[in-house]
Amino acid sequence: MEQFRKQPRLPKFAVPKRYDLRLKPDLSACRFAGSVSIDVDVVADTRFIVLNAAELSINSGSVSFSPRNSSKVFEPSKVDLVEEDEILVIDFAETLPLGLGVLAIGFEGILNDKMKGFYRSIYEHNGEKKNMAVTQFEPADARRCFPCWDEPACKATFKITLDVPSELVALSNMPVIEEKVNGPLKNVSFQESPIMSTYLVAVVVGLFDYVEDHTPDGVKVRVYCQVGKVNQGKFALKVAVGTLSLYKDYFAVPYPLPKLDMIAIPDFSAGAMENYGLVTYRETALLYDEQHSAAANKQRVATVVAHELAHQWFGNLVTMEWWTHLWLNEGFATWVSYLATDSLFPEWKIWTQFLDETTDGLRLDGLAESHPIEVEINHAAEIDEIFDAISYRKGASVIRMLQSYLGAECFQKSLASYIKKHTYSNAKTEDLWAALEEGSGEPVTKLMNTWTKQMGYPVVSVKVKDQKLEFEQSQFFSSGCTGNGQWIVPITFCCGSYEKKKSFLLQTKSETHDAKELSSDGNKSAWIKLNVEQTGFYRVKYDEELAARLRHAIENNYLTATDRFGILDDSFALCMARQLPLTSLITLMAAYREELEYTVLSNLITITYKVGRIAADARPELMDNINQFFINLFQYSAEKLGWDVKQGESHLDAMLRGEILTALAMLGHKETLNEASRRFDAFLNDRNTPLLPPDIRKAAYVAVMQSVTSSNRAGFESLLRVYRETDLSQEKIRILGSLPSCPDPAIVLEVLKFSLSPEVRSQDAIYGLGVSKEGREVAWTWLKDNWDFIVKNFGGFLIPRFVSAVVAPFASFEKVEEVEEFFASQEKASIARTLKQSLERVNINANWVKSIQAEKYLGEAVQELAYRKY
Ligand code: BES
Ligand code: ZN
Repeated sequence: MEQFRKQPRLPKFAVPKRYDLRLKPDLSACRFAGSVSIDVDVVADTRFIVLNAAELSINSGSVSFSPRNSSKVFEPSKVDLVEEDEILVIDFAETLPLGLGVLAIGFEGILNDKMKGFYRSIYEHNGEKKNMAVTQFEPADARRCFPCWDEPACKATFKITLDVPSELVALSNMPVIEEKVNGPLKNVSFQESPIMSTYLVAVVVGLFDYVEDHTPDGVKVRVYCQVGKVNQGKFALKVAVGTLSLYKDYFAVPYPLPKLDMIAIPDFSAGAMENYGLVTYRETALLYDEQHSAAANKQRVATVVAHELAHQWFGNLVTMEWWTHLWLNEGFATWVSYLATDSLFPEWKIWTQFLDETTDGLRLDGLAESHPIEVEINHAAEIDEIFDAISYRKGASVIRMLQSYLGAECFQKSLASYIKKHTYSNAKTEDLWAALEEGSGEPVTKLMNTWTKQMGYPVVSVKVKDQKLEFEQSQFFSSGCTGNGQWIVPITFCCGSYEKKKSFLLQTKSETHDAKELSSDGNKSAWIKLNVEQTGFYRVKYDEELAARLRHAIENNYLTATDRFGILDDSFALCMARQLPLTSLITLMAAYREELEYTVLSNLITITYKVGRIAADARPELMDNINQFFINLFQYSAEKLGWDVKQGESHLDAMLRGEILTALAMLGHKETLNEASRRFDAFLNDRNTPLLPPDIRKAAYVAVMQSVTSSNRAGFESLLRVYRETDLSQEKIRILGSLPSCPDPAIVLEVLKFSLSPEVRSQDAIYGLGVSKEGREVAWTWLKDNWDFIVKNFGGFLIPRFVSAVVAPFASFEKVEEVEEFFASQEKASIARTLKQSLERVNINANWVKSIQAEKYLGEAVQELAYRKY
């Protein structure tokens, strides 16, 4: 048996073809019983069958193997569940005959509280708490529900039967074919599924209502919610029906199942899960309430639905061969969800918001502790950690870069042929490149290997010299170090106008281009912008001359929103890496005073938060002026937007209003705080008051928390009351996310305690961690004090979030040591990568503080900006 231990993958001398699975959950005892008969093909001589199982008790007497072509039944001599390796080793004492046979296993398990495997979630019905049973199998937890070959490449068909209380709704991947009521229980059997991976199998049992619609070609689509919430499912239903038709055309393959159910689960560790035909969601990612959801909530629902439905093709129909290629699933679904959302809601200009994905990808990938997109996985426990910004956001960004290099039409055609070729099968990254290479005639594999097989990305420096442009790439690190990586970079640039875009592949370290006929009108001092529309996954560093021309172009509104975003974001990153003084960054920021585009302003706000924090550590004496400068920066847009919804205003303005007012509240802007308080009072009297529509509630809540102290708690108590009263998850999150912005550390501590209390579902605790800069120290002490509790009570995905949220805001070398020391005795594989990344960020911050302290002209610059008259 030892030979099967500590292996990254199962041995393949027997492979599954079909599972006949029966489960009987007991919702009040939180247990389940099950049996499975697996059609297995024995393809090599073996005495053993090895498959996955974990946290199950296997009924050894029930285990048998019956070859199809004989009447002999093989009984095992030994059945071992090795918990450490999550495998079930069945030893038969004699060699099994080659060919098909049926492996039967009986087992029992617990409906756990960890939001993975087969688990229970709690909901209220008529004022009574009830349990529902739900599965979450990705990446490797199907084995916690039934013994199986729990690897994405081991596809099989599934015939599922559930024995459940007769008053409940039982759902699975496929439609019900038969329901037999048998006293208080009913047996629900589902149609057999097409061939699919184990991580996509799903079951949900509970009390639900639904709304229903059909696609034009007859796929039945339903949204299931808790009883009484079905109106909130209508928006997602509409998006789903629209998206299914769109993907059918885009992938040139129809949705393959007869039905699609989507369901809101009150306790859910991820955002949503693409189970084949039964997609599960957090409530916030599926439910939309006309009265109380914000525009940002609506957009979230649309993009999450579009993402999960993309997986029905990209992931479910064609599945990654192994977790190394996870990014194929996630990066692609993320990218294509923008395509779908853009087609359904063009007024959202969602592609401009795609830059948030790219920025987050660049941010994580600028760390030495990042990893390549294609990452080796040697143990199931390592998989969780790669559901990160590299797989999702860098993945989506490099796909976008390639699509814009190859052209939309060629890209789509090649994709459709990739899907067709690998339907009901598995694929690796190189298979996608091969399809795109064949479709385009371009060297896709060679180009893309530089982006997926090595971590990091380049910063491209441009200089003008003797009417020539010099381009040079080097690896970018947020720490300011330079690495040795080299990429094949699709460079684009425009000079003085967008009419002519020039492009080339930078394949070497540096290249010079003739700049004589650079600008279309021959203007030698025209602006030059690289990475046009920010479709490339790299940063750009301009020489001083070019940077000044760009600042001028921003002030005069010559550039597109995406390019304005890019210049700002790259400058911020260069500043953090100490390649650009903070003085220059804030001078550039001032050029955005009249900015009105949602994405650009939203990023500008994020940057002011970060600059504000680092400056508070480095130069506390300048903070009054810095805050005043930031307030000035937002005055123009705040006045344009006002507090009240304008008739016919755009979705983006609605989102922007909330963010601008939140920023002004955070900055302690007096008028904003007063107005917020007036509107909040009206809201306390009437939850439907037009004075506080959902888009500006967060701003009001943040404003209220700015003046809460231990002796002035009224605002805090009121917010807790609203939290307790609402049954809308988005409202709860809005409040939870606002509470920790309080400057009083004692209140912050209370908020942190509240986050771990039974009043907050464990899926939501992380929202309470965004503490004010004054609360940073208290949060760290609290984390240490509660670490054992957190490790014991939170699921695998959530624990790393506690570490990054609490550790990364620090900015001193002493803190690095302190944190290292604490975790040295708390070794835990599942947070190892996150901890290293967070510590690297603290080091970067600490170095940044030092360099800001050495800046000579910063004081003068902020003084001038704080009092500049426009
Ligand atoms: N496949 C994932 C769900 C998942 C995430 C399973 C992590 C196991 C571990 C799903 O398709 C997904 O990506 N969900 C996202 C939302 C999406 C819109 C980015 C999520 O859960 O955050
Ligand atoms: Zn996904």
